[in-house]
Amino acid sequence: MKVTKAVITAAGLGTRVLPISKSMPKEMLPIVDKPAIQYIVDEVIRSGIKDILIITSRGKTTIEDHFDRSPDLEVNLLQSGNKEKYESIVKVASMANIHYLRQKEMLGLGHAVLQAKTFAAGQPIAVLYGDDVVVGDNPATGQLCAAYEKYGKGIAGIKPVPTEMLTKVSSVKVEPIAASHYSVTDMIEKPAAGQEFSNYSILGRCVLPPSIFEILEKTPKGAGGEIQLTDAMRILATTEGMVGVEYEGVRYDMGNKLGYMKANVEMALQHPEIGVEFKKYIENLMGSL
Ligand code: UTP
Repeated sequence: MKVTKAVITAAGLGTRVLPISKSMPKEMLPIVDKPAIQYIVDEVIRSGIKDILIITSRGKTTIEDHFDRSPDLEVNLLQSGNKEKYESIVKVASMANIHYLRQKEMLGLGHAVLQAKTFAAGQPIAVLYGDDVVVGDNPATGQLCAAYEKYGKGIAGIKPVPTEMLTKVSSVKVEPIAASHYSVTDMIEKPAAGQEFSNYSILGRCVLPPSIFEILEKTPKGAGGEIQLTDAMRILATTEGMVGVEYEGVRYDMGNKLGYMKANVEMALQHPEIGVEFKKYIENLMGSL
């Protein structure tokens, strides 16, 4: 079955990037000149999906404003002859059919995904975590959707992480089935040392069958007192089975300060307007470190 809908979860409190996230959604943190969530919407569109639901919450209306038209700004840009900027601004507002839904209590990622039940309407959904930006020519979500169409099972986007990081993320039990594809038979969220299955973790992307919603409705609070998507996917993996796709692309975790800085430095070095100057600046800076 073709995947035609995507859900971007962007309602979380962002406590790891406080104080900025007190008044600004972490999903709106810039990578040079674009907010993180624009890269994510762009990835969805490049994956061939046009219907997007963004899960937001109180204090996150700048996300909606960003993907809306901005008449005053547009008139100003047109009148000052700035056609290129005008077109880029209008393009953002017509990128996709974006719907919004507020998660009223931040009970966890699993609870955020559950809000998408009506939007999914019995169809599979691609899920993108709103603070995980993946950069690459081959969009990560497209790679996962192709695997969903091939295997007809839930797909987890996975990558290996250093052992010392595993207690902060999830760990999945994997067996290779094809190049970059693994059978996933079990998983655990935030394992204590010794509880991990492997160094592979689900990072920022998955494609889920409609049965996930029934499972989520019955999923109790797990690690950190939150309704964990990993706990629901574990039921999926141990009943229907899941496939892990080690996706291509560089992932930046915008939900932590180091990840945010790495995204900015690396993307600034490649930026068409400032890349050359920025490289010189970094080279000089390195000489003085
Ligand atoms: P995170 O667990 O990284 O977000 O969820 P968080 O809860 O904001 O993080 P910290 O620990 O407080 O810093 C991954 C994505 O899921 C969203 C977040 O906004 C983030 O983009 N999320 C998380 C929700 O939409 N709702 C939630 O209840 C939790």
